[in-house]
Amino acid sequence: MIEINGVTKRYDRKLYALKGINASLKERVTTVIGRNGAGKTTLIRILSTQLFPSSGTATIEGLDILKDTKKVRQIMSSIPQEAQLIGILSPLEQMQLYLMARGFTASQAKAEAKDALDELELYDFRNAPSDTLSGGMKRKVFVAMALAAKAPVIFLDEPTTGLDPLSRIEVWSAIKRLASKIILTTHYM
Ligand SMILES: Nc1ncnc2c1ncn2[C@@H]1O[C@H](COP(=O)(O)OP(=O)(O)O)[C@@H](O)[C@H]1O
Ligand SMILES: [Mg+2]
Repeated sequence: MIEINGVTKRYDRKLYALKGINASLKERVTTVIGRNGAGKTTLIRILSTQLFPSSGTATIEGLDILKDTKKVRQIMSSIPQEAQLIGILSPLEQMQLYLMARGFTASQAKAEAKDALDELELYDFRNAPSDTLSGGMKRKVFVAMALAAKAPVIFLDEPTTGLDPLSRIEVWSAIKRLASKIILTTHYM
């Protein structure tokens, strides 16, 4: 469960990106929709401890994002809207790096990465330099990365932007099959 308590963000004196947001997110999957500039990315960044709110706070599974930041990071994985792959590394290599940084052993990381790549129909591209993948395929690698980590809470900022309709369905069904709590932003209604 995520409780958002009066979260406000001002990037400068004039503009409120978020103004006193209160919400209880109880469902397994929560979708944040809104116009460009509505504040979706700002909210995701604050909840995933990458940005301080100007005021207010939130708890994730009972942990306060400001006081229990380290613990919050241990139970979540987050894919930013602007995430970029390292071009010379293959999807499998980057996913292994990411998962090992999160504490997986090398062999666990490889097995989980392969499973997630297979789930998103990327298995045949697992060893290709990421530079050679299409934009949509790169986006799917990040979704695979977030899912493979098996974190209890997952944040995805526009995971399906630029994806063709079939890839979009693959992402939605991968999300549905997961047990994690997911908060995602999207323009697909
Ligand atoms: N780093 C920043 N500095 C100043 N203003 C920002 C910054 N990031 C976002 N904003 C502003 O905050 C508002 C919300 O942006 P954002 O959260 O990215 O919206 P969304 O993700 O819904 O498109 C916009 O008006 C945007 O211009
Ligand atoms: Mg955004």
